[in-house]
Amino acid sequence: MPQASAQIITFANIKGGVGKTTAVTNIAYLLGVELGKRVLVIDADDQGNSTKALGVRDRFDRKEETLWHALRERVSYEQVMVESPYKNVWVIPSTKELKGAQTEFGRSARSFKLFRHLLKGVEKNFDFILIDTKPQINVLLQAALAASHWYLIPSFPEPDSYDGFIDLVAECEEIHDEENEELKCLGVLLSCVKKIPAHDSYIRFIGKHLKQAKVLLLKPAIRVSNAVATGSLQSCPAASLPSAHSVKEDYRKLTKAIIKAATGTKKTPRPDLKMLGVIREKHEEAQGEWQIADGIQEIKLL
Ligand SMILES: Nc1ncnc2c1ncn2[C@@H]1O[C@H](COP(=O)(O)OP(=O)(O)O)[C@@H](O)[C@H]1O
Ligand SMILES: [Mg+2]
Repeated sequence: MPQASAQIITFANIKGGVGKTTAVTNIAYLLGVELGKRVLVIDADDQGNSTKALGVRDRFDRKEETLWHALRERVSYEQVMVESPYKNVWVIPSTKELKGAQTEFGRSARSFKLFRHLLKGVEKNFDFILIDTKPQINVLLQAALAASHWYLIPSFPEPDSYDGFIDLVAECEEIHDEENEELKCLGVLLSCVKKIPAHDSYIRFIGKHLKQAKVLLLKPAIRVSNAVATGSLQSCPAASLPSAHSVKEDYRKLTKAIIKAATGTKKTPRPDLKMLGVIREKHEEAQGEWQIADGIQEIKLL
């Protein structure tokens, strides 16, 4: 039985190539296949990477079964969702036509409601809705946030992944204030973590400062794994590969942590934007720490 209310989670980072799609597709796979949750993945990126990674690229009508079609024609998710090869996992696919969304909908009051219309009644059929987004603040990201309970920020353990971080959180919090008071920050997810002292040191740095800014650093971080590239080449989530070990284990633990955080009763604090601004400055100051860390042998990853 699905729970009373589906949890809607938007995965967002203004920076590209930080593990958004990898996280969405692996978490969807584990939720659906291993944990028996009913999952809908909405691919809100015109690159269609989630569509591909969840094996539906050749399984949908490119005119009628896309997010673009649903938003333009104001049809419901039920008419555009496509069954993936993975148990309990459904996808609203995207093609490059979705690029037209910005011009078509713009930043109008109505545009914030685009996903609300699409998802009306979705809680009856799903436990989790995961929304993969493009690395920019655009109308689709805003509409997704306006319809979500949570936003989750995937990142790599590098200062560059932090570029635009504060703008993104500020945007999310503005949407909380103006459009959707249910929207909360689920946390930051670090992926592609290597067993090197510099990463260990960086993770401790970011963990400490995010805590001060009242933003959760999700655990565990996802270790670097060759299975992710293999999955990419085979158009499947890494966690579905028999050869995947560490990455599957990490995503499995993370998925359980996400269920706990998203369905628990614990109060989620609002991120402290001022403190987040301070982290940007601290990055500059701390560069030396990571260089020193390069010489340390003993390390302990999250
Ligand atoms: N844990 C990991 N180990 C190795 N490579 C990874 C891992 N997570 C992501 N990647 C790689 O990083 C790149 C960016 O990931 P992706 O999920 O496509 O990011 P985004 O959706 O944010 O653009 C991809 O080439 C992906 O294969
Ligand atoms: Mg992506």
